[in-house]
Amino acid sequence: MRAKARAHSNIALIKYWGKRDERLNLPAVGSISLTLSALWTETEIEFSPQFQTDQLILNDKTASPEETGRTSRFLDVLRKLAGINHKAVIQSHNNFPTAAGLASSASGFAALTLAAARALHLSLSRKELSVLARQGSGSAARSIPGGFVEMHAGQSADGSDAFAEPIAPPAHWDIRLLIGITSGAAKKIGSTAGMNLSKTTSPYYQAWIDAQHADLTAMRQAILDRDFERLGELSEYSCLKMHALALSSNPGILYWNGVTVEAMHAVRDLRRRGTPAYFTIDAGPQIKVLCLPEDENEVREMLESIPGIREVVSNKPGPDARILEADE
Ligand code: ADP
Ligand code: DP6
Ligand code: CO
Repeated sequence: MRAKARAHSNIALIKYWGKRDERLNLPAVGSISLTLSALWTETEIEFSPQFQTDQLILNDKTASPEETGRTSRFLDVLRKLAGINHKAVIQSHNNFPTAAGLASSASGFAALTLAAARALHLSLSRKELSVLARQGSGSAARSIPGGFVEMHAGQSADGSDAFAEPIAPPAHWDIRLLIGITSGAAKKIGSTAGMNLSKTTSPYYQAWIDAQHADLTAMRQAILDRDFERLGELSEYSCLKMHALALSSNPGILYWNGVTVEAMHAVRDLRRRGTPAYFTIDAGPQIKVLCLPEDENEVREMLESIPGIREVVSNKPGPDARILEADE
């Protein structure tokens, strides 16, 4: 019972921050993302009655007890569905820094969902795969489809309507997302802990929830219309609102470093000089810049000229998660 899968990471254009149910990992808000061509996870899993415990090997090292435990609890959901109790050995590689604000939990749990479902011989729809991936990490639901993706918050208590589906495939629109990596270190407050703190302490939490519907509607339309300026403006707006929510938590959560802030100014300076470029930032210090293909070189040079940016990674809209190898 063995399978291997690859899933690409994704970056939210309209952000997810906050849960309506922690046990089932149900998001409090919908979100919209772009699947990334250059960042991915490959995960191979084998279930066997011979294994005594689940073992996670992440980037060639035995994962921490916390990371292994999170994976193991997630596999319990799939084992229950399949009626199989075997433990698993999981070998996973992220081709980018883990837990650093580049959505390793998204590609990680999407790849794991696909590989584990196949190894357990579960035959599931893309929607069911997304519902399952969500239980590993909310953003992972959005890494099952490629291209431009919308995650529905859903309303049901069991989470069966909280899943992601494509708005448009990768070929719909060739936009670029350049990532300026400012640090490879793991964040001090993980996304799960961060958003739970915001929910319980930020005075702005309800306002954030109330405003999300309008942002989702506008972004969906911007994507369908291929309106780049609108997409960019909405992305920056949602990003800054999410960080305002994190900052207004108690104690305040600050995911940026100095380089992140320099880069935000540099993107806006470039825009003032006439190049349509817009930033977004997740729960970490990396700067991500949205631009059109014809401006990619200029944006790359701008990012490379900022002291403290270690590497720039270019992305196009990325593909669906897929099985690479399986038995039978
Ligand atoms: P990120 O910004 O990278 O998504 P998160 O705080 O959301 O950071 O999640 C990081 C956690 O996701 C890791 O500590 C680990 O528990 C889990 N994770 C990351 N990559 C993988 C993987 N390939 N397989 C299993 N779990 C993973
Ligand atoms: C800032 O999906 O990592 O990247 O559901 O607790 O695993 P969990 O959180 P996660 O949160 C992502 C937060 C974000 C914004 C986004 O991707 O929408
Ligand atoms: Co994450």
